[in-house]
Amino acid sequence: MVWVLPAMLLVGNLWRQEGDAGRDRLARVKVLIAGGAGFIGSTVTSACIDAGIEPVVLDNLVTGRVEFTAGRAFYEGDIADGALIDRVFAEHPDIDAVVHAAALIVVPESVAEPLRYYRENVSKSVEFIDHVVRNGCTRYLFSSSASIYRPGDDFAVDEHSAIEPLSPYARTKAVMEWVLEDTAAATGLRAISLRYFNPIGADPKMRTGLQIAKPSHVLGKLITALENDEVFSVTGIDWPTRDGSGIRDFIHVWDLAQAHVQALRHFDEVLPEGGERSYDVINLGTGNGTTVRELLDAFQAVADKPLRVEETGPRPGDTVGSYTRSTRARELLHWAPEFSTEDGIRHSLEWSALRPTVLS
Ligand SMILES: NC(=O)c1ccc[n+]([C@@H]2O[C@H](COP(=O)([O-])OP(=O)(O)OC[C@H]3O[C@@H](n4cnc5c(N)ncnc54)[C@H](O)[C@@H]3O)[C@@H](O)[C@H]2O)c1
Repeated sequence: MVWVLPAMLLVGNLWRQEGDAGRDRLARVKVLIAGGAGFIGSTVTSACIDAGIEPVVLDNLVTGRVEFTAGRAFYEGDIADGALIDRVFAEHPDIDAVVHAAALIVVPESVAEPLRYYRENVSKSVEFIDHVVRNGCTRYLFSSSASIYRPGDDFAVDEHSAIEPLSPYARTKAVMEWVLEDTAAATGLRAISLRYFNPIGADPKMRTGLQIAKPSHVLGKLITALENDEVFSVTGIDWPTRDGSGIRDFIHVWDLAQAHVQALRHFDEVLPEGGERSYDVINLGTGNGTTVRELLDAFQAVADKPLRVEETGPRPGDTVGSYTRSTRARELLHWAPEFSTEDGIRHSLEWSALRPTVLS
């Protein structure tokens, strides 16, 4: 603890540097990634490694995969396990920041099992934040979700849009944002909630991707339909969008991961230590609204194969969706997405073919 504070101040200054010298020194920066064996957390971990930031992964493998932690500093365990968190910080006293991507994420499951979701995503996260603060770490990036927004008439949202989470899953995210805001106001913690829109794709180097064979989100269902010659269901056709299907902002998971690298690099500019503000929220999306029918068209073009399609009602917890109109990520993080929806579809298909050999 004695040398952690000066080290953090030093690193805080280093993170403001750009160019080769700054990047060389970034090699000394270390980040704890909770949920780093999952889809997004493992991609963030890869992006950090590529950027010269040293990751330490913590994951209880409830949905994550041990294969995604190969060659990486990895602690298997729960975010609520205080003794384990203390051990992680004791063995890595130079951890400068935390990325909190650990959570349960399946919306219909959260409707059926709300208490499990509040326990895993809220109660355990409260414990985790407590352990992080107790260990003197003051930079915190939280994986939040655009599903907490109430979209306006045009479905575009920014960070000032109304918050109206409609599923237990989304509510756990909204609650955690308030927990973080209140904790940051009362302690030395500085926290940024990154509100993700709809991640697609895989690590372009194919180190990681979606771990489950039949994902429940729309692109996963398209791939399942293609690979197994099944019918694809457009779930929800009466939404007030341009074609009646839900609208999403599909962001490539590698772009999302790069935004975390940028958020780590620019953390102290967004929330200076000792500054007036200690909490912020930033949307991470492309800014383009794509309907499910438009995604279906793009998918059939990339896959070069027509699918059999049916139309059904929405699933429990489904919402019309939204896309970001915010420019905060570009301005504050100096970040812009580079991959297209078609790139995301192509990388998802590539990963899906590779997945059985990477994940035994
Ligand atoms: N995938 C999306 O569409 C999406 C959209 C918006 C926000 N998010 C958020 O991004 C984060 C990552 O999502 P993902 O898609 O990578 O999901 P994922 O299930 O692939 O990853 C979550 C990881 O957290 C781990 N985990 C869960 N509970 C834990 C606990 N108590 N202790 C330790 N580890 C635990 C799991 O084993 C898994 O590796 C989540 O917080 C999620 O809410 C995801």
